Amino acid sequence: MTLFESASRNAAPFLHGPEFAAMSEALRAGQFGHNTATDAFETELAEFLGVPDVVSVNSCTAALHLSLLAAGVGPGDEVVVPSQTFCATVHAILMAGAQPRFADITADTQCVDSTTVRAALTPRTRAVLPVLYGGRAVDLSEIRTELTDLGITLIEDAAHAFGSRLGGELVGTTGALTCFSFGPIKNLTCIEGGALIPRDQHDADQVRALRLMGVTQSQSARIRTTDYQVDVRGWRYHLSAVHAAVGRVQLAHFPVIEEKRKALWRAYARELAAIETVNLVDVDVDHSVPFNCVVRVPDRDRIFATMRDLNIGVGVHYPPNHTQPAFLRWYRPLPVTETTATEIMSLPFHPAMTENDVHHVASVLEQAVLIPRPETL
Ligand SMILES: Cc1ncc(COP(=O)(O)O)c(C=O)c1O
Repeated sequence: MTLFESASRNAAPFLHGPEFAAMSEALRAGQFGHNTATDAFETELAEFLGVPDVVSVNSCTAALHLSLLAAGVGPGDEVVVPSQTFCATVHAILMAGAQPRFADITADTQCVDSTTVRAALTPRTRAVLPVLYGGRAVDLSEIRTELTDLGITLIEDAAHAFGSRLGGELVGTTGALTCFSFGPIKNLTCIEGGALIPRDQHDADQVRALRLMGVTQSQSARIRTTDYQVDVRGWRYHLSAVHAAVGRVQLAHFPVIEEKRKALWRAYARELAAIETVNLVDVDVDHSVPFNCVVRVPDRDRIFATMRDLNIGVGVHYPPNHTQPAFLRWYRPLPVTETTATEIMSLPFHPAMTENDVHHVASVLEQAVLIPRPETL
């Protein structure tokens, strides 16, 4: 990619080479479905995070669905969730048979906090599902005991937050059921994939059975037997060894990916500090591996269109869910979400970008912000 071309893309996977070799090697070795590379990836993830166990799956959506089932969430239950998330989070709640109860966010972080979660609790709340937007860990310590006393499970949508920390603790190690995405543009990619961090052995056994059609033996074990047993109803959610092979390479290089993402976010912060009307959504870069770089700007739609015309790959993450036709049944007014939904704009953000690209994007944004509105011309 030549200079500035990469600024035309909003996001892109960071594949630096060895992934291609690892993938062909897996294919040549006949590692197709759940296989030894999948098990090895789980072990390496557990070592990286410093947790006893990790269950890999083929998406974060699958991880969220299985986490909700492991928490005993089902029909008649409500799950508190921000409207500010990718629609997958809401779909997972519906897949578990439960209802979303949308919570508001804070403008600066685009995340829920203890106050907005508390305001959304009802007697039917069975789980709270914060989204770690942009990679920022969500601190609910203020209400953690209250939630436990009420029998409410904390499930983290950490699709954006692989490698981030809450204070000193890595996301995934703080006792919640945590779900990661390893989709194409995520901090760590398997091309498609995800993982769930169980709270205990019971969770782990349950989700391992559910992720592979209720069959408890892995593909490699099954090859050696003439029969298999379906113990429970399940889903086809296992991570293929080909995808796991890519994830293993990414994990081995994660310090490089982390450094690049942090440096990119900090470069944006420096460049944008001088533009008065541009507010940067705060990912807490010192503790996070940033997934994106989102700004809040007045007159967003005009600025967005101007930047697109100038070949800058801006995006909007995300249009709120509580006003989507499929989810309108669960609408409730969320003032901060509704106001900031008209202001947020994601800037191009992927590790192949250089500081020059960032400077270019920031200059175009500054020009776009300064162009007077038509009525003031
Ligand atoms: C916040 C959030 N949650 C969940 C998901 C779903 O992840 P996956 O695509 O791995 O199913 C995404 C995907 O982009 C996401 O951004």
